[in-house]
Amino acid sequence: MSEFLSSVEREKRSVFHSWSAQASINPLMVASAHDSTVVDEDGKEYLDFSSQLVNTNIGHQRAEVVDAIVEQARTLTTIAPQHGNRARYEAAEKIVAHSFEGADKVFFTNGGTEAVEHAVRMARLATGKPKVLAAYRSYHGATATSINLTGDHRRWAVDTASAGVVHFFGPFLYRSHFHATTEAEECERALAHLEQVITFEGPSTIAALILESIPGTAGIMVPPPGYLAGVRALCTKYGIVYIADEVMAGFGRAGSWFAYDQFDVAPDLVTFAKGVNSGYVPLGGVVINEAIAATFADRVYPGGLTYSGHPLACASAVAAIRAMEEEGIIDNARRVGEEVLRPGLAALAAKHPVIGEVRGLGVFWALELVTNRATKEPLSPYGTSSPAMNELVAACRREGLLVFHNFHRIHVVPPCTITAAEATEGLARLDRALDSVAQYYVG
Ligand SMILES: Cc1ncc(COP(=O)(O)O)c(C=O)c1O
Repeated sequence: MSEFLSSVEREKRSVFHSWSAQASINPLMVASAHDSTVVDEDGKEYLDFSSQLVNTNIGHQRAEVVDAIVEQARTLTTIAPQHGNRARYEAAEKIVAHSFEGADKVFFTNGGTEAVEHAVRMARLATGKPKVLAAYRSYHGATATSINLTGDHRRWAVDTASAGVVHFFGPFLYRSHFHATTEAEECERALAHLEQVITFEGPSTIAALILESIPGTAGIMVPPPGYLAGVRALCTKYGIVYIADEVMAGFGRAGSWFAYDQFDVAPDLVTFAKGVNSGYVPLGGVVINEAIAATFADRVYPGGLTYSGHPLACASAVAAIRAMEEEGIIDNARRVGEEVLRPGLAALAAKHPVIGEVRGLGVFWALELVTNRATKEPLSPYGTSSPAMNELVAACRREGLLVFHNFHRIHVVPPCTITAAEATEGLARLDRALDSVAQYYVG
């Protein structure tokens, strides 16, 4: 039977896809990839302006990382978490070295959502308090605690209102919740709002605050100067564990090892995944500060995973981080961001009225698409897509460009290794794709 079906039909018949109504999916069937290029089964090449799910920070199929996985597979493919292993401690040492002042240990998970689950568990156990603060316009993962922390509509279907999560508004000047007109006002008012939430929830009930240093899926809102430092200060003042979720923004994406580096703050816990090894093998984890690690020195941490610190994943992380250290990959992300993407996207905004705002840094950019710049009416309603957005994404694909899209936004998030020439070519393809939705701008 299956030999009469096309590969996409076989995929649709047998594979249950994430976040989708199964009958409506139309997956791109990918045969291979290299660097910033993805090749489909018909041999068509696409520039990967999505880094897949914003994770292939070092690009596809980097030889030294593939070699490290192969070599590790030949030596020791798997080992139980209670045993020690060189790949694991080397990965932990490198991650700690790039993290923050006071970073001590790494607990490895299989991905981002488990990292968030464990960071919250550690914070609750360390403080003995139940609640966790999280921002609206955020994404923290799809397992029980993480999806309840998530500040977008994907939470609603599983929200039992019993997860101990309290949401607050972070800064977002373009759609300010605080009627602010400057970044300074937005910062001051967002911090005042957060302090009120803490005061009225009761500091003695709040274990942790989790915040993406630059919210990713929710729209790449770079925080105004002083905001993260203000959050740090409030957490310290009220005895709240500050968890920086760096699953998407970390490991070069924002043009620094971690996004919080650019805002001069040290969190207490950091969750990471994606860019740590560019997803070559599933891996995530929590970087734990000395104080919290010390609370588990003489008492058992009640949590674990069969594959915590899997050798193949850790060996790939060591090789990926080494490549980043030695080959100026993070500098490249920053340079391409400032020299090509920032001016190039600004030029697209000047040409296409449908682009309401461009924001970002490094290789982490969002285009906010609107039908009217004055009212800021989104090109698709919150929580869903629209014919205009579907057309735009299809046009990008026709042009040979993969983009990350979410509701009414296109995210330009290529690998940190993208060349200036590739970035310029990708912008030209995006320019042509944007022409196809010009009629939806009603001004
Ligand atoms: C900020 C953030 N946290 C957590 C997650 C969840 O990571 P994973 O999909 O690896 O579970 C994501 C995924 O996109 C993310 O962007």
